[in-house]
Amino acid sequence: MKTTIFSTVILYVVLTAALNGKRTKHLRPVLERREEQVLQPIVGDKGAEILVPKNHAIDSQNRDSLQVPPSDAGLVMNLKWSFSQSMMNLQQGGFVRQQVASDLPSSQDFSSAQNHLAKGAIRQMHWHSLNEWGLVTAGSVLIAAVSNEGKNQVFRADKGDIWYFPKGQGHTIQGLTDPGAEYLLVFDAGDFDSTSRTLNVADWLIHTPPSVLAKNFGVSNNTFKTLPKALGSIFRGNLSSGSILSPYGKLEGNSSYHFQASKMPMKDAPGGGGKYMIVDKNNFPIITSLAAMIVEVKPGAMRELHWHPTGVEWLYFESGYARATVWLGGGNARTFDFEAGDTAVFPDNSGHYVENTHPTETLRYLEIFQSDKVVDFGLEQWLALTPPDLVAQILNVSVETVKSFKSERGILVKGKE
Ligand SMILES: *[C@@H]1O[C@H](CO)[C@@H](O)[C@H](O)[C@H]1NC(C)=O
Ligand SMILES: *[C@@H]1O[C@H](CO)[C@@H](O)[C@H](O)[C@H]1NC(C)=O
Ligand SMILES: *[C@@H]1O[C@H](CO)[C@@H](O)[C@H](O)[C@H]1NC(C)=O
Ligand SMILES: *[C@@H]1O[C@H](CO)[C@@H](O)[C@H](O)[C@H]1NC(C)=O
Repeated sequence: MKTTIFSTVILYVVLTAALNGKRTKHLRPVLERREEQVLQPIVGDKGAEILVPKNHAIDSQNRDSLQVPPSDAGLVMNLKWSFSQSMMNLQQGGFVRQQVASDLPSSQDFSSAQNHLAKGAIRQMHWHSLNEWGLVTAGSVLIAAVSNEGKNQVFRADKGDIWYFPKGQGHTIQGLTDPGAEYLLVFDAGDFDSTSRTLNVADWLIHTPPSVLAKNFGVSNNTFKTLPKALGSIFRGNLSSGSILSPYGKLEGNSSYHFQASKMPMKDAPGGGGKYMIVDKNNFPIITSLAAMIVEVKPGAMRELHWHPTGVEWLYFESGYARATVWLGGGNARTFDFEAGDTAVFPDNSGHYVENTHPTETLRYLEIFQSDKVVDFGLEQWLALTPPDLVAQILNVSVETVKSFKSERGILVKGKE
């Protein structure tokens, strides 16, 4: 019976490939389904087949939790959360789904949200009691913000662009494109869902006595009678012309909230394994926290073994497939698998790598830190710049091996070809 299924798959592979080269993409699900059938927690002579019914989809997405690499050991708490597990907050003209500390308790320093706005849909005016970092992941949005000095900025952010609002800066967002626009938000605390993290302006006005509103704005008591009774955070609207000038001037140059990453080329990593872009205080001066690195790793290549002296790292996987082993010292290490829509958090100063596990697809992900700069240490450089006879004795490898290590950072390495 098994042989029959296998032959059928092979026949399908051959036929489809012969009929149309492009169609081979459709084979993935077929092959994956077959793979799931055989994926069992067995590595070498350890483990055994699971006898009871199991969740094939989740098992296959977490292969290294099932077929645990023999180098994994000890206790490392869960460090992965997929947005697919989050509860959607459905709104008129969009949605929000969050990843907060109650989803991923190891993420006390970061929370995040995936957002969708239909063309014309408006994310109402608000501010946060946290610093906000935004990345447009689909389409384009219009953003309007005002600083406490009365300077303002109204800008279009396209796919790939980044924004940053220091804690307390009021802003609003509108979707500009069909079939909608999406953006990822990252905040520098895990409890984004707690009270007073998000302050929506309509909510404030609804909860202020009308006579106070009348006095504050110099209008009649009836003016705000039409305030929406139950306004969601997102609602459908008409496209704005996007124009308003402040007598105090524009937020531009070093005060700009907008980083036009979509117009900037990414840097080739010296290790030849892909491209990266660092967005921090050095090129986006408004940033005081949430320094970021956007990473594109070629198939089979890897973000080299490294660690971050500045603290916890938060990650978001935009596309492709990856695995990472996080080592916490004391013999504790655990390997996680990732794909598009997954988030992760790597503990303060933990050693790790991020490997593209797909044979043909580029891996795109981002690293974010509670710091104004991206800072990391590369293991190879450290080993290469320590006296080789010492390193050789410590690691019990030959001096020649140590001398072959590169003193220049690789960042993204592709290994030997
Ligand atoms: C507005 O309401 C306040 C409080 O109810 C009242 O004292 C005031 O006279 C009202 N003003 C006008 C212009 O109606
Ligand atoms: C939005 O556009 C519709 C259709 O043109 C119009 O009826 C409506 O008044 C507009 N709403 C606002 C607030 O401008
Ligand atoms: C803008 O920021 C950069 C980098 O922090 C700095 O070198 C430059 O002097 C600043 N320019 C102004 C006009 O403040
Ligand atoms: C170093 O490697 C050699 C060769 O494999 C082995 O015999 C020796 O036991 C190792 N030393 C240590 C301290 O593990």
